[in-house]
Amino acid sequence: MSTIISPSLLSANFLDLKSEVEMLNNSEADWFHLDVMDGVFVPNISFGLPVISQINKAARKTLDVHLMIVDPDKYVEDFKKAGADYLTVHYEACTHLHRTIYHIKDNGMKAGVALNPHTPISALSEVIADIDLVLLMSVNPGFGGQSFIENCLTKVKDLKNLIKEKNSSAIIEIDGGVNIETGKKLIEAGADALVAGSFVFGSENPTKTISELKKL
Ligand code: DX5
Ligand code: ZN
Repeated sequence: MSTIISPSLLSANFLDLKSEVEMLNNSEADWFHLDVMDGVFVPNISFGLPVISQINKAARKTLDVHLMIVDPDKYVEDFKKAGADYLTVHYEACTHLHRTIYHIKDNGMKAGVALNPHTPISALSEVIADIDLVLLMSVNPGFGGQSFIENCLTKVKDLKNLIKEKNSSAIIEIDGGVNIETGKKLIEAGADALVAGSFVFGSENPTKTISELKKL
């Protein structure tokens, strides 16, 4: 299977979101990565439900929604209505993670769990068989354009082992500081999906940059 490329709209031009969505529709991107930040779980505020609903009207690909918010349980139905296909919550933001995972699945979405750079893979051992995706943060969440934390490569290998051991079908997605160089190492380590924000939208030709990531 070729690597799934999920460009993060956090680095898109919000004044021209429709063209950015069209560009992704016509590119080799597989998913749209949508970062929701509440200013509490992370020290930044991005966009929320109304923006995602609008994007959903124009997007012709899977919506990969990354919630960086406290108490995500409260909004599961709302994100389903807004068009989320994958709904990813942070391990660090969920007291009753197992309940939240089934809340997402019962609403007809794929359930993802994200880990901050300091959270060990072992934290997922009791839920790995229940989830569809693990999002490993390779930067501290909150902002685009940060540098890749190399320790993530070891975590990808550990996660791959855990997935095998527990007979899980979870996809491994990496988010933060992804470019051609880090992308290559991540794929070698076993990543299935790559999120890229500033590397795609900050490049001269985002469509071409997406193809280059896709070819890795
Ligand atoms: C960061 C977000 C990322 C962000 C990645 O908290 O979760 O999805 O957009 O940006 P880059 O690719 O620029 O590191
Ligand atoms: Zn993200």
